[in-house]
Amino acid sequence: MSPAALDLTGVDLTTEVVPTARLLLRPMREDDVDPVFRACQDPTTRRWLTALPSPYTRDSAADFVLRVAPGGRAAGTDLGCAIEADGVFVGACGLHHLTGGRLGPEIGYWIAPWARLRGYAAEAAAGLAGWALARGAPRVHLFTDVANTPSQAVARRAGFTEEGVVRRCLDYPDGTHGDAVLFGRVAGD
Ligand SMILES: CC(C)(COP(=O)(O)OP(=O)(O)OC[C@H]1O[C@@H](n2cnc3c(N)ncnc32)[C@H](O)[C@@H]1OP(=O)(O)O)[C@@H](O)C(=O)NCCC(=O)NCCS
Repeated sequence: MSPAALDLTGVDLTTEVVPTARLLLRPMREDDVDPVFRACQDPTTRRWLTALPSPYTRDSAADFVLRVAPGGRAAGTDLGCAIEADGVFVGACGLHHLTGGRLGPEIGYWIAPWARLRGYAAEAAAGLAGWALARGAPRVHLFTDVANTPSQAVARRAGFTEEGVVRRCLDYPDGTHGDAVLFGRVAGD
């Protein structure tokens, strides 16, 4: 996919907010550091987000919230978002590879343990997919570990279709590699 495929005319990625029915997908800000730190102690989050630093310290959270997320927005490559419901931080999501990559933009998400099973992840993923497709992306995709059935349910609920299994594309902390289900959504799905 060419970088020009996404039309970001008039979009300021550094401040862009994606609203959905119940959520605001907004830029990270300083008061998100504490809930990100607390959420990323959760064993389920740590099991599936294998790239998280270990141990996950308050500095890890501050780096993500104050440097990584705004840096991707400023560079024009990523739309990293805090997920807010009723004014409260409930998780994080993002659109990555906005400027390149054969598969188009990639979506990621996690929901804090205290806010799960309310449909927030599916709503956020659908919101990000809609945002990218409305701006000319021919497709968006996401990967879930083959064993991460909750995340696969999220993808289906968000309107994605299973496209296959990509073998050995996940990096585990012990140096081994795992298989992932590739989900895609195209305009018109
Ligand atoms: C996976 C995760 C994002 C789900 O968030 P969530 O907000 O609870 O999910 P939703 O409420 O939007 O659920 C959407 C669907 O998934 C199902 N689901 C979500 N969590 C589930 C669970 N633990 N077990 C079974 N089904 C689950 C819901 O029942 C719903 O199914 P439905 O469409 O049939 O009604 C959350 O558990 C999480 O953050 N996990 C750790 C990080 C992670 O795995 N991120 C994704 C990496 S690819």
